[in-house]
Amino acid sequence: MSFDAAKARADFPILHQEVHGKPLVYLDSAATAQKPRQVIDAVSRYYECDNANVHRAVYQLAERATRAYEDARAIVARHIGAADPREVVFVRGTTEAINLVAQSFGRVHVGEDDEILITGMEHHSNIVPWQLLCQEKGARLRVAPLDERGDVILEEYEKLLSPRTRLVAAVHVSNALGTVNPVETFIALARERNIPVLLDGAQALPHMPVDVGSLGCDFYAFSGHKVFAPMGIGVLWARAAHLEAMPPWQGGGEMIASVTFEKTTFNEVPYKFEAGTPDVAGAVGLGAALQYVEGLGLDAIAAHEAELLAYGSDLLTGLGGVELIGTARRKAGVLSFVLDGIHPHDVGTILDREGIAVRTGHHCAQPVMDRYGVPATVRASLGLYNTREDLDALARGLGVVREMFA
Ligand code: ALA
Repeated sequence: MSFDAAKARADFPILHQEVHGKPLVYLDSAATAQKPRQVIDAVSRYYECDNANVHRAVYQLAERATRAYEDARAIVARHIGAADPREVVFVRGTTEAINLVAQSFGRVHVGEDDEILITGMEHHSNIVPWQLLCQEKGARLRVAPLDERGDVILEEYEKLLSPRTRLVAAVHVSNALGTVNPVETFIALARERNIPVLLDGAQALPHMPVDVGSLGCDFYAFSGHKVFAPMGIGVLWARAAHLEAMPPWQGGGEMIASVTFEKTTFNEVPYKFEAGTPDVAGAVGLGAALQYVEGLGLDAIAAHEAELLAYGSDLLTGLGGVELIGTARRKAGVLSFVLDGIHPHDVGTILDREGIAVRTGHHCAQPVMDRYGVPATVRASLGLYNTREDLDALARGLGVVREMFA
């Protein structure tokens, strides 16, 4: 399927505006992706026509809302190749999904002197929940180091898989470097040793097809808002056997089967992990977003972005004075860089005056900045709606930055 970025761009109302009198160039989709009309309409329609609380009442609206919520779960399951919609737990986002695994699965399976293995390119949300667990249990966090380009050193990763490793938690695609990890190899090496694997897929879902069945991981977490859905909805996928064995982590309504003051029995999977009123509209929006990208074709989106990434990398390095941070063999969606010793925040502020939105800072991945000896980077990150013109505008904007610092 060929991909028409200009046509897709027309679906995103927010992109068609000026900021500071210049056409908006949005290059911060790794922080949050913009929403197509199809998602905005699905959420509005839900609130205009169907809104009610789910799984609680017998009237028409409640039945429609419940159906919409469960249909969204089925769309997610199909989209990521889950064996069963019961394996899809709706959460607030990747952060909550990882905390859920740490606090439920982790507290059962990780004990004193045990180890959890992560990589050197994790987002804080795949570091801190494990540090909290390790502190509580007297366990150790081990970190597979990165090479100069931003790839995990596989021999070191393998060496760190010890008889004490209780879980590998790794990012699928790095938000700070763009590295696409060889997660199939991570999983194969871990499975040989019966070690379960959690993948943080927040930056993978928007850029490529993901199939948890063929990956063979145990847990997969992602956020709706990075895949063109609303903020506040996300997914933890886990094998049904894990979810059934795991204790609940938040108590409340919906996650129970029966409650007395003496004893509570828990609802079945996945509701056992969905305490309280869920974000039904968010789930509806997520379903619409996944159908939207399926309609465009995930392989076509990936090919379009790969072409843009190559174009942007050549363009930026051709400017001189630009150092790309992260030149891994396989990358998706991210151009992180530093410019001529000019502080990234200054670069970001001047680019904003030119209408260009990029993220500057440590990208919630401070250890990555430490690894490459920079306090921060400028990060231009791509979405399916970006074009070569956006990257040309970025290059012109960097020219303006340079002139101001000349
Ligand atoms: N984790 C998000 C980012 O990479 C917010 O910008």
